[in-house]
Amino acid sequence: MENKQINFFKSKDLNTVLKPFEKGSVVKIDSFDFRENKNDLNIGLFGWYAICPSTELKKNKLHYFSLYDEPLVLYRDGNENVKCIKNICPHRGASFFGGTLSNGVITCPYHGAEFSSEGSCQNLDRITCSHIIDNNYDNYAKKIHLSQYKALEKDGYVFVHFSKKSETDLNNLSEDSPISNHELSNNGFLIDDFVSEQVLVDFKCDWSRIIENHLDILHLFWVHGDTIPDKDVNKNVLVSFKQKINVTHKYIESIYFYKNDPSKEFIRIKYMPPGRILIYKGNPSACRYLQVLDHIPLGNNKARVIVRHYRKFLKNKLLNNLILFKETQRKIFYKIFDEDYMILKTQTYNHKLELIKKDEIKLLGEDRIINYFWKWYKKSEEKDNPWKNINKTEQLNVYDNVILKYPPEIKKLEIINNIDIIRKTFVRFAAPLLIFMLII
Ligand code: FES
Ligand SMILES: [Fe+2]
Repeated sequence: MENKQINFFKSKDLNTVLKPFEKGSVVKIDSFDFRENKNDLNIGLFGWYAICPSTELKKNKLHYFSLYDEPLVLYRDGNENVKCIKNICPHRGASFFGGTLSNGVITCPYHGAEFSSEGSCQNLDRITCSHIIDNNYDNYAKKIHLSQYKALEKDGYVFVHFSKKSETDLNNLSEDSPISNHELSNNGFLIDDFVSEQVLVDFKCDWSRIIENHLDILHLFWVHGDTIPDKDVNKNVLVSFKQKINVTHKYIESIYFYKNDPSKEFIRIKYMPPGRILIYKGNPSACRYLQVLDHIPLGNNKARVIVRHYRKFLKNKLLNNLILFKETQRKIFYKIFDEDYMILKTQTYNHKLELIKKDEIKLLGEDRIINYFWKWYKKSEEKDNPWKNINKTEQLNVYDNVILKYPPEIKKLEIINNIDIIRKTFVRFAAPLLIFMLII
């Protein structure tokens, strides 16, 4: 096979539609340097990640998760504000798993150290000899302090700002990118006009491969053609698009127009690093639906995906309940995940064994946003090196069962949802009918 070096990224005009390349040619994009373009993305792998929907964080409940394999905990402090701490007790390194949370005070299960909402230990005398701390209390209190990352809520999501290092004092944490980048209103969406459904799934596969999948519109027709309820997305239809790419410091956006009717838009995909993708059609203020996909790198071959589907149609609550719209929508999400999962697992395996390289892509016109993504990813991984403090302890990952709380085997979620549909259908229709028949 012939290797072709095509240096198309040197082009000044980012909106140029790529010409189709020779079949089978391998395109290497190594020579492209993002710094050459003043508009390129300046957000790396450190930044804001939407970890879970706000509704997940219940009062007095600890939510265990991880970022790049670093074990972390989310919870609400005494003022109901969200807090993200290392899942490591500063006393002797136990996990808080099995500990308790009461009105924002977290208690370690090992020796019972209690930590206030602000993160200081409230009962030092419990974990050391009282006479030692009598004279030097402040010094000890400083040492025994929770380590944390910035956390906040926006648009009904809990966001965590993952950075180089956690700190005892949040004021010492630097923020590479503002949270406003991710705010839906700042991206032009009037969220109050929409209603939404969501699902959250923890996959056992590579984080970046899932992002690639969600940036890839070509597979929609082939893999999900029978599932997506849109007559234009169909296995039997071969469509071709013209692609317009916009790159700024904050995002990469790809707009797809039908090739045979360039005035007609098919879809827009907007990637906002590190983990968010927006999918919609047309102008944000006028679009009828918006899909928000969040990708969370839990660890090596572990990734969380939150999909929230906003829509402006079928907003009536009663009607929604009656036709089980939420459940039906979820059924579609699970089916789509199921369709992707085996592919993503095998692809992850192939790339972890280095049988395929991430940035070696058989380039077709529609893959352009994927090329941008890989180029950004490679550069960001080298720059930020988020894994550096974590030794790979595959055999020893005791956290897996705690962290992968949403069964990665999608079937289970699908079955639970199906049972829910049957149960609700019975309660709403069959039971009243039965009662009615008994009465007459
Ligand atoms: S390890 Fe947590 S109190 Fe001792
Ligand atoms: Fe997919």
